[in-house]
Amino acid sequence: MAARTLYTAGITGVGMSFPEKKLTNADLEKMVDTNAEWIVERTGIKERRIAEKGIGASFHGAKAAEHALEHAGLTPLDVDLIIVPTVTPDMLFPATACLIQDMLGAKNAWGYDLEAACSGFIFALQNARAQIETGHVRRVLVIGTEIMSSILDWEDRNTCILFGDGAGAVVVERIDESRGGILDAIHHIDGSGAKYLHMTGGGSLNPPTLETVEKNMHYVYQEGRDVYKFAVRGMAGITKEIVQKNGFTGQDVDLFVPHQANIRIIQAAQRRVGLEDSQVAVTIDRFGNTTAASIPSALRVSYEEGRLKEGSLVVLCAFGAGFTWGATLLRWTAP
Ligand code: COA
Repeated sequence: MAARTLYTAGITGVGMSFPEKKLTNADLEKMVDTNAEWIVERTGIKERRIAEKGIGASFHGAKAAEHALEHAGLTPLDVDLIIVPTVTPDMLFPATACLIQDMLGAKNAWGYDLEAACSGFIFALQNARAQIETGHVRRVLVIGTEIMSSILDWEDRNTCILFGDGAGAVVVERIDESRGGILDAIHHIDGSGAKYLHMTGGGSLNPPTLETVEKNMHYVYQEGRDVYKFAVRGMAGITKEIVQKNGFTGQDVDLFVPHQANIRIIQAAQRRVGLEDSQVAVTIDRFGNTTAASIPSALRVSYEEGRLKEGSLVVLCAFGAGFTWGATLLRWTAP
C-alpha cells in the first residue's frame, strides 16, 4: 500500500570526518598472521583510519554533521531531528544523538540512535524521509558514525583487517516535489541470520563480567563466508528490485553507492544489475568497512569527485548484521 505523503524529502548536504591515523595492510602484517596482498585481493582494502584512544563515535559524528550543514547552508539551530545509526555508540545510554545535539548546540532538535548495523544509514534515511513527508519536521541530520576499532579483536585476522573508523552525515530537507529527492526505499530484516554476525557481550543477555571478557564476547564475531553469500544475494536482489520497480534499467543509474564491505561483494552486485565501473562508488580501498558511516561518506567522496549533480539518479544499497538489508532510490538535490 502506498503511503500518503504531504511533502517531498531530499538530501541537501553531505559531509564526512575521519581520524588522521592510517592503519595499512603492512601495519596489520606485524599484528596478525596475514599478508597485504591477500587483504587487497580478497577484500579490496588497502588502509583504514583508526581513532585515537578516548575518541567516541560522537566526535567524528559531530564533525561530519557540521560539514554536511555547511554544505546545505544551514546552522545547527535549523535542525529539527537528529538520527544516529551506529553499532558503536559512545555508551549504551544516553543516545549518541543526544551527545551530538549538545556538541553542535542544535537546541531545536530532538533525536535518537538507530541500530541496523551496516544497513543503519539506509534505515535511518527512511526515518528521516517519513518524518519529512508526513510534515512532522522539515530538516533532519542523519549521521552514520562508528569507532569499529573499539569492538575488534586485534588478534583475530578474520575480522580485524576488515573494519575502520569514521563518520558520514547528510542533511535531509523538505524540498520542492519537482526536484525528485528520495523516490523509493525497500527494507528487510531476517533475524535468523544473527548467528553469523554479532557481538554478544555487553547487552542485557550477557552483561559485562570477567567471564564475558575472557570469552572475547565484546568483540565482533563473524562467519565470513556465510555473510558473504547472503550479502551478495541481498544487495544484488534489492538493487535490481528497486531499479525495475520504478521503471528504470541499470543504464539509467548515474551512481550506485553500495555499502563498502568487500570489493568482491560490490562487484558481484554490480555485475548482476549490469552496471559499469564508472557507475559505482568505491571507497573501501581507503576506509575499509565503516559500517553505518560507509554510504554517507562514499556520497561525500563522490560529490567531491564531481559525480553527483542536480537530478543524478542514485541507488544506495546495504547489507549488514541482523541480517538487515535495504536500498534507496533518489534524485540528487544537494548544491
Ligand atoms: N589473512 C590471510 N589469510 C586469511 C585471512 C587473513 N586475514 N583470513 C582468512 N585467511 C585464509 C583462510 O584461513 C583460508 O585459508 P585456507 O583455505 O587454507 O583454509 C583462506 O584465507 C580463505 O578463507 P575464506 O574465509 O574462505 O576467505 P574469503 O575469501 O571468504 O574472505 C572475508 C574472507 C571475511 C574477507 C569474506 O568472507 C568476506 O568479506 N565476508 C563478508 C564480510 C562482510 O561483508 N561483513 C560485513 C557485512 S556488512
